Amino acid sequence: MDRIILAIESSCDETAVAILKNGELKANVISSQIEVHQKYGGVMPEIASRLHLENIGAVLDEALKKSETKLEDVSAIAFTRGPGLIGALHVGLQAAKTLSLIYNIPLIPVHHLAGHIYANEYVEKLKFPLLAVVVSGGNTELVYMKDHLDFEIIGETKDDAIGESYDKVARVLGLPYPGGVAIDKLAKEGEHTYKLPTPLHDNSLDFSYSGLKTAVINLIHKEEQNGNEIRVADMAKSFQDIAVKEVIERVKRATERYEIKEIVLAGGVSANSYLRSEITKTFENSDIKVIIPPLWCTTDNAAMIAMVGNYLYDKKLFAPLSIGVDPSWKIEDFDKF
Ligand code: KG4
Repeated sequence: MDRIILAIESSCDETAVAILKNGELKANVISSQIEVHQKYGGVMPEIASRLHLENIGAVLDEALKKSETKLEDVSAIAFTRGPGLIGALHVGLQAAKTLSLIYNIPLIPVHHLAGHIYANEYVEKLKFPLLAVVVSGGNTELVYMKDHLDFEIIGETKDDAIGESYDKVARVLGLPYPGGVAIDKLAKEGEHTYKLPTPLHDNSLDFSYSGLKTAVINLIHKEEQNGNEIRVADMAKSFQDIAVKEVIERVKRATERYEIKEIVLAGGVSANSYLRSEITKTFENSDIKVIIPPLWCTTDNAAMIAMVGNYLYDKKLFAPLSIGVDPSWKIEDFDKF
């Protein structure tokens, strides 16, 4: 019998449905809300929920049509249970529950960051032990995996996520949302001429981005008060150099402390061209292989949720219909719901 996983992702500003049939991606439909949120300079949670509600039906329909799938034939429904925006997550949950109830299909709750990590399986099969460098708008984590579905957080941010700091710095510089894309582009034309502090001086694997973000904002205000024009590209480059160096340093440190065969990048910030080139350069002459996800895998999608769902299906990790979302679900608790 065919194994068909229908996956739903709605944790932030993308409404997405994917169909994975016997391990092969048959449909990956995404409706992005970015243009709407751009007007506000960031994601407006209430608007995100409403748009998910408006779009989920059409996205589901398109994915079923594209993959020529009938709901009666679906083996399981995988959905993003968290982390993410509570209202946004709820729309995906309710869609999943409705289909589960009507068609009597098991439900599989999936951790959003596990999805970002497993997006790399569309490039090649993961090899363990590995280090997943999870860098996104809401999270910055080093996740150690000895095997499939075995997650250990060995480093995390003490305050802001790296993507959040990119977005805030971009906003102060008058750049459009999502800020990471704009800073990445501008930094290529800039020089590292502004002096900014390096965040954490400890020996840990943890991160801190709030101090760096505040330093940039304060410097911009000071320059403005002194009547100096901000060299936006230089500021972007100065900020990005430090933000990325922090990741590289922590990753290097982790490889000295843990047995690691492979490094995988995951999350929205893994689209960053400087991070991609720096991490590749750092490990090119080592035994550690670096896997860089294709750009389509770095933004939120349901294909990555389907991939995790496929592994969870093997373990029969099905949830009861009473399940709720968890906006701050920890990856280590991916099987507790
Ligand atoms: O993975 P994602 O959708 O966030 C969460 O699920 O939390 O990633 C969105 C984040 C935003 O902060 C955005 O600015 C950042 O990823 N981002 C980038 C780039 N493209 C997107 N940051 C740096 N460089 C990029 N090229």
